[in-house]
Amino acid sequence: MLDFIHKEKRSHYSEELNKKNVGEEVTLMGWVHRRRDLGGLIFIDLRDVKGKVQIVFHPQNKKVHAKAGKLRNEFVIAVIGKVVRRDTANVNRDMATGEIEIEAQKLLLLNKSNPLPVQINENILADEDLRLKYRYLDLRREKLKDIMLMRHEIVYAIREFLVKNNFYEIETPMLMKSTPEGARDYLVPSRIQNGKFFALPQSPQIYKQLLMISGFDRYFQIARCFRDEDLRADRQPEFTQLDLEMSYVSQGEIFQMMENLFKFVYEKVLDHELDIPFPKLTYTEAMNRYGTDKPDTRFDMELINISKIVANSEFRVFSGAIKKGGSVRCIVAPNCANFSRKDIDKLIDKAKHEGGKGLAYTKYQDNEFKSGITKFLTDSEKKQILDKTGAKNDDLILFAADTNKMVFKVLAEIRNHLGKELKLYEDDQFNFLWITDFPLFEYNDEEQRWETAHHMFTLPKEEHLQFFETGEYDKIQGQLYDLVCNGLELSSGSIRCHSLEIQKKIFDVLGFSEKELDKKFGFFLNALKYGTPPHGGIAPGIDRIVMIMSGANSIRDVIAFPKTLQATDIMSESPSFVSQKQLNELGLKISQKDSNKN
Ligand code: AMO
Ligand code: AMP
Repeated sequence: MLDFIHKEKRSHYSEELNKKNVGEEVTLMGWVHRRRDLGGLIFIDLRDVKGKVQIVFHPQNKKVHAKAGKLRNEFVIAVIGKVVRRDTANVNRDMATGEIEIEAQKLLLLNKSNPLPVQINENILADEDLRLKYRYLDLRREKLKDIMLMRHEIVYAIREFLVKNNFYEIETPMLMKSTPEGARDYLVPSRIQNGKFFALPQSPQIYKQLLMISGFDRYFQIARCFRDEDLRADRQPEFTQLDLEMSYVSQGEIFQMMENLFKFVYEKVLDHELDIPFPKLTYTEAMNRYGTDKPDTRFDMELINISKIVANSEFRVFSGAIKKGGSVRCIVAPNCANFSRKDIDKLIDKAKHEGGKGLAYTKYQDNEFKSGITKFLTDSEKKQILDKTGAKNDDLILFAADTNKMVFKVLAEIRNHLGKELKLYEDDQFNFLWITDFPLFEYNDEEQRWETAHHMFTLPKEEHLQFFETGEYDKIQGQLYDLVCNGLELSSGSIRCHSLEIQKKIFDVLGFSEKELDKKFGFFLNALKYGTPPHGGIAPGIDRIVMIMSGANSIRDVIAFPKTLQATDIMSESPSFVSQKQLNELGLKISQKDSNKN
């Protein structure tokens, strides 16, 4: 028989109790985390959201003792008892409440539990799919629970900081117009307007700019965003941004606001002092030094361009790449000359996985280059490579030769991999930096058209406006910035086009016709005509902030109910087929065979 709660009220959470409470009568509620029956004494670790505490049942208290004997893991109980000090020999240093225990006087059995399909134990983790199916149980696990609570604290601190700084929190629609914004939209069919669709927001970008036009001056929102794109370890189809926008603001002021925000949040949540201002790197410098616009600056191992040295090398892989307009660059892996053939093959496979043709290498041992490619290099080339790279005895030099784009891609990947493998940084290091001076446009070779590097609402640098007239679009940089930490892009933002005239120039380059523009963005372009204040903003990804602050490896670990890499929810089995009636109401017909059998 189950007990019901009558006049019992929880007096404390487990971890609130310590030596100071000795002698007090307390009422605790939670789960049976563990039960040990030592013949006479029965011990139970009672677990609640804050932690665990040990309950002891003495055989003298016969009825309660007998009831405790029937408890099983994950049964839900209330315990009324006295806080007592443990003998020194029995103090448990691994437990926050290890100096005390509760002598049970009364026990209520509030609910039973079936044996769990996944264990709540960090050391015996079940397969992730099974854990996702029973996510509500996996969330009982201390590690996941702690991350969720940290996420709550982070968002709470963000709100506290922004409200103090005159930001207003305003919600924007989830059902909006489908506009081209980079990724694919999640569409929502309209029942009332058959054949028409809403899109879920990829971000509240247009709305936050409209709010500046409305005059709210400083806006923020903890905004849910939806993007139907290929997923990775740091991407989810449904994710959260701290979306913010400010009027009458410069890039520098946005940087300062964000630096102070992160400093506040880190201090509050991790008690960690961040150094501000954060360092800045231009996009070009970041690419040249790290091969990526989201460099992990916790370690050096920078890229070195040796194109000039090997431009006429006998080694065709090198000279050939340069002749085709590419480059040859390398990184020096410190003390890695002892890498086996297998270790190196693993790196070569990684390079190929990125799309590279290979990865040339040489060991530097006993003051000599040692590898297959060295016979193609002259003594002078070798000496210049040594001088330029500063490689020392027992180092390993890894070379990529290709188009610049591919060389960067390959070496950035290898560099990140080696940084982790060689443990070149501490896990609790946080290297924030700003990446600035991004190009506004990128040329899409496949589709033979210009695209925006970030989004189409970014204000170009004033001194680059002339290149719209000359058609040198690749020379136009935007007032555009990313915030990066430990190799992860945390935020993107920009100063926006508040002038209709410049906004139209951008749409021109992107190849939108007047008619298309009007259909897709007419409402927004119209809004720009009515006294739009200069404005700009940024949107840090909350999930990625939590990943960095909690040290989680996967974005799924920082979201209460995440999707799999196949963009499904294993627990509720969605997406799912819907009834023919629902489809009829929406005026939809599924064309694929067998796809709507339910
Ligand atoms: P952007 O598209 O760069 O900019 O996104 C901003 C930040 O959102 C996070 N993010 C994601 N997190 C998890 N899963 C995803 N699929 C995902 N996509 C993006 C990243 C990224 O840095 N409206 C602009 C911002 C602005 O200009 O103010 C925008 O959405 O942390
Ligand atoms: P190959 O001439 O293809 O036999 O390659 C000789 C060596 O150069 C091998 O170690 C390859 O991995 C490497 N290699 C081939 N293509 C490239 C490239 N584009 N960049 C760097 N190394 C390469």
